[in-house]
Amino acid sequence: MKFTPVLLLVTALFSLMLNPAHAENTIKFDTPPASLEKWYKPSNKRQVWLHTMFRLRREMQAINEYAKENNTTTMKKWIKRLDKDYNSIAKMVPEWEKEIKPRLLSELKIFADKGDSLRVAKTLKMIKQTCDDCHKNYQPLVTAIYRTPDYDDIKLKNSNGTPHSFKDNMNALSISINRILIALDDGKKSTALQAQKNLYMQLQALGSSCTSCHKKDSYPKERILGKSMLKNMQRLETRIKKGRVKASQKILGKIGVAVCARCHNIHRIVHDLRNTLVPH
Ligand code: HEC
Ligand code: HEC
Ligand code: HEC
Repeated sequence: MKFTPVLLLVTALFSLMLNPAHAENTIKFDTPPASLEKWYKPSNKRQVWLHTMFRLRREMQAINEYAKENNTTTMKKWIKRLDKDYNSIAKMVPEWEKEIKPRLLSELKIFADKGDSLRVAKTLKMIKQTCDDCHKNYQPLVTAIYRTPDYDDIKLKNSNGTPHSFKDNMNALSISINRILIALDDGKKSTALQAQKNLYMQLQALGSSCTSCHKKDSYPKERILGKSMLKNMQRLETRIKKGRVKASQKILGKIGVAVCARCHNIHRIVHDLRNTLVPH
């Protein structure tokens, strides 16, 4: 027992040593300016900001490649485009004016006119640095805020026709699955059968939500709530009726993977991550 104080001291020392390191591991992102919203759906018809970014990357690549080939004429065409798109950053989001260096573009033009590929390459690197600096501070949050689908506004109807939220549907699904498992465990066949019916209706209700994002594409729904799901639900019903507990548990496990987990891996993980980064 007399070792205890020593042990405590060692632990305290360790935590003193570890805590500063821990603080250094904290990741910080800056909140993007509100004016960015104008350049994303639904405020805008298109994802204007993102498409400007894709163009910037293409223009940088073209200039790099033509510089290597010493193809000044074609290179200049792309420099002109880069100039326009690069400067549009501060036009679209004035708060970000300090994040770009337009003078690098003027220099790029001068070096291209002189046919100085070496300096062109160096200047491109410096421009790239401004891209990277902004991305490091802002990119993850911007992607999370403006490009993660939101399920809050989706309305579903439950079995008696009353509207409920996506989240309510999820909690109902979870309750049904667990009620079946509990009832199977306790030999309550009719409870299990009723819960199986509920689960089926809840999945049907959920199926009506897919088109709100996937529009006319029927494949996503078929993949998760299609024929294979229907077949497994029928199997589940038959097995419960026959009192085959182990086989019922097994098929429920399959449904859990092919329906719940598969859909969660696509939609829920990003959604939950977004809500952690940007609570709303
Ligand atoms: C569209 C595909 C999809 C399917 C199929 C699906 N889920 Fe979900 N689930 C989600 C999404 C998206 C969220 C996050 C929704 C939110 O928090 O608003 C979620 C969240 C949940 C939650 C957490 C709810 C809360 O209160 O935070 C539970 C529990 C859940 N799902 C259970 C299930 C079960 C059980 C199944 C299978 C029977 C299932 N889900 C099938 C997409 C799906
Ligand atoms: C002032 C800030 C800022 C500057 C400067 C900037 N970007 Fe971006 N960029 C962003 C933000 C914010 C995103 C995230 C957009 C999103 O996910 O919708 C992004 C995303 C991108 C993407 C998309 C990555 C992907 O695949 O999702 C590319 C490509 C890109 N930027 C290229 C560039 C290039 C090349 C430059 C420099 C010539 C540049 N950006 C300069 C802010 C900036
Ligand atoms: C709030 C928007 C939203 C809703 C609602 C939604 N999804 Fe998705 N889903 C997405 C996004 C975004 C992607 C990824 C991009 C893409 O493939 O369109 C995706 C991708 C998928 C994919 C993988 C890509 C593919 O086509 O195979 C499947 C499968 C899928 N969803 C199934 C469903 C099902 C089933 C439902 C309804 C129960 C549903 N989704 C409801 C937004 C949504």
